[in-house]
Amino acid sequence: MTTPRPLAVVTGASSGIGYELAKLCAEHGYDLAIAADEASIVEAKQAFEGLGAQVRALQTDLSTEDGVQDLLDLIGDEPVEILCANAGHGLGHGFLDQDWKAARHVVDTNITGTLFLVHNIAGGMRSRDRGRILFTGSIAGLMPGTFQAVYNGTKAFVDSFSFALRNELKDTQVTVTCLMPGPVDTEFFERADLMDTKVGQDKKSDPAKVAKTGFEAMMKGEGDVVAGLKNKIQAAIAAVTPQTQLAEMHRGMAEPGSGKQ
Ligand SMILES: NC(=O)c1ccc[n+]([C@@H]2O[C@H](COP(=O)([O-])OP(=O)(O)OC[C@H]3O[C@@H](n4cnc5c(N)ncnc54)[C@H](OP(=O)(O)O)[C@@H]3O)[C@@H](O)[C@H]2O)c1
Repeated sequence: MTTPRPLAVVTGASSGIGYELAKLCAEHGYDLAIAADEASIVEAKQAFEGLGAQVRALQTDLSTEDGVQDLLDLIGDEPVEILCANAGHGLGHGFLDQDWKAARHVVDTNITGTLFLVHNIAGGMRSRDRGRILFTGSIAGLMPGTFQAVYNGTKAFVDSFSFALRNELKDTQVTVTCLMPGPVDTEFFERADLMDTKVGQDKKSDPAKVAKTGFEAMMKGEGDVVAGLKNKIQAAIAAVTPQTQLAEMHRGMAEPGSGKQ
């Protein structure tokens, strides 16, 4: 008889940072419950099974309570050892030029769906007095996101919430870590229609390296980690720069047409 492997739940595991986080979990001896909103989650499942993990995969929209509930049902009563609350997406253009439903989807995915999932899973962790939670926040949460205003606001929420929950759980063995990347080379910018912007076209971090940084910080139980030296400097600058100036700086990065072509 083989000893059962602990369970890691990773949202947004079909691509980018979430894919790499799920891969790391599989490589470190965890079974997986993974979710994303497109059919490519099935290909990710097969890849992680190839690493020896038992994998349950679900295609579901995590912006809705029903969609999150489907993931909770998939997990059932099984204790969750690791939760990587990673699913999220951005949305470029000026707020007033965005489609309202698309803007709301950013909030519902990045904030509401994430909170509903964590509220359910972290309760079990607290009762068992063990578990690790990793939020994928962002250094975008440290600055007003002109031409990506809703997204940056959601990441400010996630960054802030992660620290607060960590403090609320400080007398338990449940750790909460916030991974705060800068721009990462994933499908994020294409999906957010930011490819004609400076930030969309600039060089970006490798998602595998970013995920490794977050995974290691989570395993050490650290509070937060900014991935990459350049981003650490940017985060330090953001902490001492007036918000109006940060908002203007963000315009230079995210204004439609600010890229080279
Ligand atoms: N890329 C960056 O520069 C950057 C920087 C800082 C933070 N982040 C954060 O990192 C996280 C992962 O993004 P990424 O860069 O790896 O981008 P990505 O390659 O686009 O991956 C996003 C993942 O989230 C899933 N997802 C998005 N909305 C969902 C929804 N409503 N329901 C279910 N799944 C959903 C996607 O699923 P499908 O593929 O099925 O759509 C995909 O698996 C996000 O929270 C993002 O905000 C990204």
